[in-house]
Parts: sequence; structure tokens; C-alpha cells
Amino acid sequence: MEQNRLQNLKNQAILNIFEAKTEQELEELRVEYLGRQGELSQLIKKISLLPVEKRKQIGELINETKKIIQEAISSQKKSLQHQLSPQEDWFDITVPGERPPQGHLHLITLAISEITGIFEKIGFGKVAYPEVEWDWYAFEGLNMPQNHPARDEWETFFIKDLFSPQYGQAVLTPHTSSGQLREMERLGQPPIRMLNIAKCYRRQIDASHAPMFYQFEGLVVEPGINITHLKGTLDYFVKQYFGPQREVRIRPFHFQFTEPSFEVDVTCIVCGGRGCRVCKQGWMELGGAGMVHPAVLKNGGLDPQKHTGFAFGWGVERVLMMKYKIDDIRLLFGSDLKFLEQF
Ligand code: FA5
Repeated sequence: MEQNRLQNLKNQAILNIFEAKTEQELEELRVEYLGRQGELSQLIKKISLLPVEKRKQIGELINETKKIIQEAISSQKKSLQHQLSPQEDWFDITVPGERPPQGHLHLITLAISEITGIFEKIGFGKVAYPEVEWDWYAFEGLNMPQNHPARDEWETFFIKDLFSPQYGQAVLTPHTSSGQLREMERLGQPPIRMLNIAKCYRRQIDASHAPMFYQFEGLVVEPGINITHLKGTLDYFVKQYFGPQREVRIRPFHFQFTEPSFEVDVTCIVCGGRGCRVCKQGWMELGGAGMVHPAVLKNGGLDPQKHTGFAFGWGVERVLMMKYKIDDIRLLFGSDLKFLEQF
């Protein structure tokens, strides 16, 4: 009889406790079930009226019910305390979300597309010739025979055990001039207006030299091409890329694959032309240029009696450094966001 009563009491108490909406309601239920005048206390008082053999069993049942009701109350109390107040719960779904930070293309990639755009406007077509190249295209076919001292300038990485009987040793291309013969072979005849932008490799590292860097190489072979076209093209590029104020200097130089040959410099933006650790004498070398050597035209399958052309090869990172006053080329390869996010 008491067992059934206790079972009903427990079920009813648990139902009511978990439906309580406020701590006040919970407190009232606590008093109702566990208080001095509460139902359980009433039952406890009646234990002494029960037959002796039943007292222990009912006493244990009462304690167990009391414990379950206490646990239910404290659990519901915690859950009420954790529920958000109506004010906290409210949110405005029309407020715009927070956008994750957006990156941008790397400076070098941006420079490559800017340079490409400038040359495309005057009819150059962009190509990218291999980074792993044969000796023939990088040296021999460019009028630099085996053991010629001019090769030393290119401080080359050679690829061990990769050799072609026809084209010689494999190298990591040290300059984009290796694309000249490939373009002549591909097109077979003029007109040629090539812009070869590719990675180059040399055993060099300091503030203005990286072991891996980009060059952009122009090659034009068309009837009647002469040195004035070369000078006009270089000047056009410098003015487009750096602005009309930048000064360009052409110095006589020697390359085996051009004749005559030049080095092209612009005034150094880092020091304003006074001389610094990047440029050393106020001028920053951007690259070489010249009229294509007859031997190179011949190696490319063109008749040097009929055709003339010019070529130039400059460093992408160098033009970038000059434009943005970057005083160490290694910053461009360092992936430091503090540096990259400035652009
Ligand atoms: C050459 O590589 C010739 N092929 C350029 C050329 C092309 C001459 C066509 C005539 C006709 P040079 O070694 O000077 O030339 O390199 C050209 C430019 O590449 C340099 O002026 C510089 O801007 C860039 N450069 C060279 N080495 C590095 C390097 N280690 N790190 C970054 N840029 C470099």
C-alpha cells in the first residue's frame, strides 16, 4: 500500500519538477514534497505505525524517493539557471555576418600579370618555356660553347645523370634566353614577338639575388628590326611600369647571344640614386638586352642574312623591388604576412 503511494508520489513529483518554469515554482515544489509538512515527512511520521518487519523496507524506500526528488530539483535548477534570458536570446538575423579575412595574389604573380599586360598591348604573346632545360638551349645554341668562360656568369645548377646525346646535359635554366631558340623552332619563321616569363635558378643569394627567381624575356624577329625598336620598347616598358619620371640608362655590355649588347638600368628607388646596399651606385640593373646574334638566328633555323631581331631579359623581382622600394629580395619569398599585407 505504502509502496504504491511512494511510487505515485515519486512519478508525480518528477513530472512537476521538470515542468517548473521558474526557481520560485521549484522552491514551492521542494516544500511540497520535501518540507516538514510535505508528503514524505508525513509518511516518515507514520513509519512507527507500521508492523516492525515492514518499517525497514519502507524507510529505505522513503529515503530513496527523497534522494531522487532532491536530484531532480537540483538538476532542473541548474538547467533554469543556464537558460538564456529572453533579452540575451534575441538576435537580429539581418545584421551582416563577419567576413573571413580575404587574401590576395602574391606580389610576384601580380607583377607577372602587370608586365604581361604592358607587353600584350604592343603585340607580344606570353609563353613559358621549361625550367629544366638542355645545355643546348641554355648555352651552346646561344653561342656559348662548352667551357666558354662566359658561362661562369650563370652560376648554374646541373642535373646529375640527365644527359641527352643531342642536347647535352640537363640544367635548371639559369635564364629565360633559353626560350629564344625554342620559340624560333616553334614558329619556324618571323614575325616573332615572344614574352617568355619563367622561373630561373642560379647559385646566388644576397639582398638582390635569389637562387630561384623569375625573368621575363622579350624576343622580336621581324623584317627591318633595328636597335631603335629595342630602345623604344625598353623605354615604353619603363615608363608604363614605373611612371614617366624614371630614368633609364643603357650601358654597353657583352653577351654571347646578342651583338651589340647592353645592360639596362633605372635610377634606384630605394636610395633615390645616391647609392645603397641594394644598388651600390645609384642605378639598379634590371637586365640585359641586345640585337640577336646571327649565330643564334642560325641555330634557331632562321637565315641571318634575311632576318634581324632584338632580345631583352629582365628580373621580375628586380622591377618589383624598384617599384615598391623593397630593399631585400628575400622578403618576396618569405611568406611573412606583415610584409605581404602591405600591398
Ligand atoms: C641574362 O640572364 C640574359 N639572359 C639577359 C639577356 C636576355 C641579355 C636577352 C640579352 C638578351 P643577366 O645575368 O644579367 O642576363 O640577368 C638578367 C637579369 O635577371 C638581371 O639583371 C636581374 O634583374 C635578374 N637576375 C639575375 N640573377 C638574379 C638572381 N639571382 N636573383 C634575382 N634576379 C636575378
